[in-house]
Amino acid sequence: MASYDVIIIGAGPGGYVSAIRCAQLGLKTAVVEGRDTLGGTCLNVGCIPSKALLHASHMLHEAEHNFAAMGLKGKSPSVDFKQMLSYKDDVISQNTGGIEFLFKKNKIDWIKGWATIPEAGKVKVGDDVHEAKNIVIASGSEVATLPGVEVDEKVVVSSTGALELGKIPKKLVVIGAGVIGLELGSVYARLGSEVTVVEYMDAICPGFDADVQRSFQRILEKQGLKFIMGAAVQGVEANKTKAKVTYKPKKGDAEEVIDADVVLVATGRKPYVEGLGLDKLGLKMTERGQIATNATWATNLPGIYAIGDVIEGPMLAHKAEDEGMAVAEVLAGKHGHVNYGVIPGVVYTTPEVATVGATEAQLKADGLKPKIGKFMFMGNARAKAVHQGEGFVKLIVHPETDRILGAAIIGPGAGDIIHELCVAMEFGASAEDIALTCHAHPTYSEAVREAALACGDGAIHS
Ligand code: NAI
Repeated sequence: MASYDVIIIGAGPGGYVSAIRCAQLGLKTAVVEGRDTLGGTCLNVGCIPSKALLHASHMLHEAEHNFAAMGLKGKSPSVDFKQMLSYKDDVISQNTGGIEFLFKKNKIDWIKGWATIPEAGKVKVGDDVHEAKNIVIASGSEVATLPGVEVDEKVVVSSTGALELGKIPKKLVVIGAGVIGLELGSVYARLGSEVTVVEYMDAICPGFDADVQRSFQRILEKQGLKFIMGAAVQGVEANKTKAKVTYKPKKGDAEEVIDADVVLVATGRKPYVEGLGLDKLGLKMTERGQIATNATWATNLPGIYAIGDVIEGPMLAHKAEDEGMAVAEVLAGKHGHVNYGVIPGVVYTTPEVATVGATEAQLKADGLKPKIGKFMFMGNARAKAVHQGEGFVKLIVHPETDRILGAAIIGPGAGDIIHELCVAMEFGASAEDIALTCHAHPTYSEAVREAALACGDGAIHS
């Protein structure tokens, strides 16, 4: 039995980042992780592998659609899907190995196995009970399936199975037009699958402003994705090689059926707390099955904290990382802080979609009529030079103070250029501050400045 200042349960982005910060702040730290590798869902079966496949399939798309126009002649490459998956696996192992190295460097113990908390101050892994002054639960989330849909990870898959398919499906049906459905749907559409997305709501990506949703959907449709909107999936019937998806359109009573070789269930995720023994412990949960925490990530039990997907808020790796660092500061007797008003969200399709802060719709519902500055990437020379003139930057600004309250970007590098606006929001900047900042030419970031100019006397290139 070993004794620690902190034991963190889960080595995903929340847990491993928290562990490194705890160790840097002088706390004796261990992490319990039952997977064979560190990094959690994000590194092993989520963010990172999907980005590898998005990159590879984007390269193919470029070769098929844009090379000839640039004078790059010849046949487009054929797809060796096995090799593509092994490239993806290589990317995973480089990253998971990197975390193992960081654990050693920071003298963090990796306790291998699945943890239970028998009582505050104790963590049981297998037959061993370890003592900890503080415990941080960072056990992440798991797929939330639908009633009537059984995931076998072969024909009916979650995002995990979609990253390991035996072959490229001819017909892929995606249930849910959220982030996972659209990212992985894009991958397979580019690889040649006929992709149909069935979505319950009338618009894709719930929570985005309507103009962003419309424009994004149109772009994806041009790339070959088909959408059946306003349709609730009722069930999936599958055998070893095929499936039938039954859905009910909101308008009309008759059920409809669509055939698939593979069905991807992308209808959301739920906190993963199984096996931790939280019921017996008397840990307070929210109505939505999350661990209830206060402003310092403390639960109702002394010495037990929780961060990331198991608590309230968006299920995003970087939100978990921020909470991980902040809770480490708290445990080291410092002041940990996360600004929940400035957490960007990115959809890694091509073009990327990135958002931060308030939406126009939210502000209007609260009775504020924000100023909107919009600039289309068609007016951005750099974007046009790389065949990415679709989309726009939208700034959402306070009508009197000119302070930036939110932003949405559809366009090249959106996931990176959004950070200019995140920093601006952290500093309480106005649209005029961005408009008066010199931006290098030619860059995608100029579109952000143009949107800021559009909040004042007008953009130059529109
Ligand atoms: P999501 O919550 O983003 O979207 C699920 C969609 O499924 C919704 O549009 C919903 O209306 C629809 N849906 C639910 N039940 C349905 C039914 N019976 N029939 C038809 N449609 C139905 O969930 P998603 O995409 O599975 O992602 C899960 C979590 O992982 C999210 O919190 C997401 O933010 C996070 N994530 C983030 C990524 C990123 O930041 N790039 C990448 C992947 C996941």
